[in-house]
Amino acid sequence: MAHQLLQGKKGIIFGALDEKSIAWKVAERCVEEGAQIVLTNAPVAMRFGGIQQLGEKLNAPVIPADATSMDDLENLLNNSMEHFGGKMDFMLHSIGMSLNVRKKKEYTDVNHEWMLKTFDISAVSFHKLMQTAMKLNAMNEGGSILALTYIAAQRVFPDYNEMAESKALLESFARSFGYHWAKKARVRVNTISQSPTMTTAGSGVKGFDDFFGYADKMSPLGNADTESCADYCIVMFSDLTRMVTMQNLFHDGGFSNMGMEPAVLAP
Ligand code: NAI
Repeated sequence: MAHQLLQGKKGIIFGALDEKSIAWKVAERCVEEGAQIVLTNAPVAMRFGGIQQLGEKLNAPVIPADATSMDDLENLLNNSMEHFGGKMDFMLHSIGMSLNVRKKKEYTDVNHEWMLKTFDISAVSFHKLMQTAMKLNAMNEGGSILALTYIAAQRVFPDYNEMAESKALLESFARSFGYHWAKKARVRVNTISQSPTMTTAGSGVKGFDDFFGYADKMSPLGNADTESCADYCIVMFSDLTRMVTMQNLFHDGGFSNMGMEPAVLAP
């Protein structure tokens, strides 16, 4: 159900790869709520999935950008502002990729060059985006910047590998840069810590299917799905949350505050 919460707002959505992507659903919900958007993803992602089709459906330009490249980010932001005829009100960073996970390296035997690349893609890109947007003065007063994260930043999930540190870094960038954005233009910066979700990035983690079921049982409301995550992003982009900043917000059906759930022990 749409409430026109984003009427007149303009924003950029990173990371819609295919219909399962969280960013895909967020993009659809943004437009339902009255926003105009630009879609972006890595140049290589243009060959997969249907981001172009999504762009056509939502009347949104698709501008490729490798989120680790300052030149690509500058080009993306300049072209988006030209398209909108002004600055942005919101941005979603929905980007994650681990080279060591992809190449099935264990946490105790990672390739450290790959680890640095993982940090660059999954976390430093968020800093690069915010720095570029600040340099170009690309955000409207009171805007909202979000990134998606996971509770492995705070607790141990052995198979999450180097993504745990990536998410810890990402959340730290949200806090530290959030201060500067608040002072500059009352722009809010937050991370949403989402339940395990059946997507390309999610299911790349070893043992994901079993873990998905475990988290679903441990969470009193069950795992939060993609649709509800998109709804939460809409609220965070809206003016209703104008005083929320520098926070890591758990969107996980209660998982993060659980200690023990009898249903998990049942044979
Ligand atoms: P996804 O695989 O659909 O999205 C990841 C996106 O990152 C893809 O669109 C990919 O093309 C993009 N990407 C990778 N390298 C890039 C680069 N260099 N430049 C620009 N884009 C690049 O998977 P999902 O699950 O929708 O992931 C979105 C975010 O949600 C990620 O940050 C992920 O870590 C986070 N998240 C996912 C959970 C899950 O269980 N699926 C749980 C908690 C957080």
